[in-house]
Amino acid sequence: MWELLHGCADHYRYLAKNYDYFHKERHEAKFVSLLKYLDIQPDHIVVDIGSGTGCLAEKVFEKFQLKNPIWCVEPSAEMQEVAKRRKGVLPIQKTAGEFFKDFVDNDQRFDRAMCIGAAHHFGDPVKIYRSIESCLSPSGVLLVELVKDATNTPLFTKAEKGIDALVVGLEENTCAWLRLANFDVEVLEERMDYSVTKSKWYDMLRGRFYSSLRELNDVEIEEGIDELERERKAQRFESPRSHPHFLHVEHIYS
Ligand SMILES: C[S@@+](CC[C@H](N)C(=O)[O-])C[C@H]1O[C@@H](n2cnc3c(N)ncnc32)[C@H](O)[C@@H]1O
Repeated sequence: MWELLHGCADHYRYLAKNYDYFHKERHEAKFVSLLKYLDIQPDHIVVDIGSGTGCLAEKVFEKFQLKNPIWCVEPSAEMQEVAKRRKGVLPIQKTAGEFFKDFVDNDQRFDRAMCIGAAHHFGDPVKIYRSIESCLSPSGVLLVELVKDATNTPLFTKAEKGIDALVVGLEENTCAWLRLANFDVEVLEERMDYSVTKSKWYDMLRGRFYSSLRELNDVEIEEGIDELERERKAQRFESPRSHPHFLHVEHIYS
C-alpha cells in the first residue's frame, strides 16, 4: 500500500545502506539547529515520525539523556534495520497513517513530536497532523522541518527542477494544514551551512540522496554532473550549501 500510494519505498530500500553516509554533514548541521528548538526534559516521551535510520533520534536521546527510548515511526524495513542498532530507539515499522490508525485507543501521550524532512511524504497531511495533535500532552510541541529551497546548493538544472516541484507551496500548505489540525503555528527559518567534498557531493547525487532525484535515470545524472563540472570550472560554485527551513509548532490543547 505504501509503495502504491507514495512510490518511495523502493527509493528508501535502495538508499538505506548509504543514507547515514550521504547525510552525515547535513545531520550534524541540522542537529545543531534543532537543539535551539527542542526543549526536551529527560522524562519526556518523544515520537519521531518518518524517523529514517534513527540517526537524529539517537542524537536527541543521548543529548537530553532521555529515560525512555524515542518512538521511531518509519515504514521502510531497510531504514528500520539500521535504526534497530541504535541507542534509544523504539522502532515502529509503519507509515504515519498506519501508526495513528492503530494508536486510536491508546492512552499514551507524547511530550514532543518531531517530523524531520518527512512531511512531504504524507498522503493525507491534515489527518496525520490531527492525529498528532490528539496524542500530544497539554504542553506538547510538534516540530516539523521542511526544506524550503535548495537554490544555494550546487544542483544541475533537472535536479533543481525536481526539488522545486517537491517544495513549491509546501511551507504555506503545511502551515494551513497544521492550523486546520488546531496547532498554533510558529515559522522559523534556519540556515544550515555544511560542506562536503566534491567527490562526495557527486556520490550523493549518483546515490539519489534526495527523493526527487529518483526520477532521473543514470544518464541524466551523469549529464547533470557534467553540467556542474562545467559550472565549477567557470567558478560558479565552491562548496555545497543548503537552506533548510524549520517550522516550530506550538501545540494548543483545547
Ligand atoms: C528524507 S527521510 C528523513 C529521515 C529522518 N527524519 C532524517 O531526518 O534523517 C524521509 C523518511 O520518511 C519516511 N516516510 C515515507 N513515507 C512515510 C509515511 N507515509 N509515514 C512516515 N514516514 C514516511 C521514509 O521512509 C524516509 O525514511
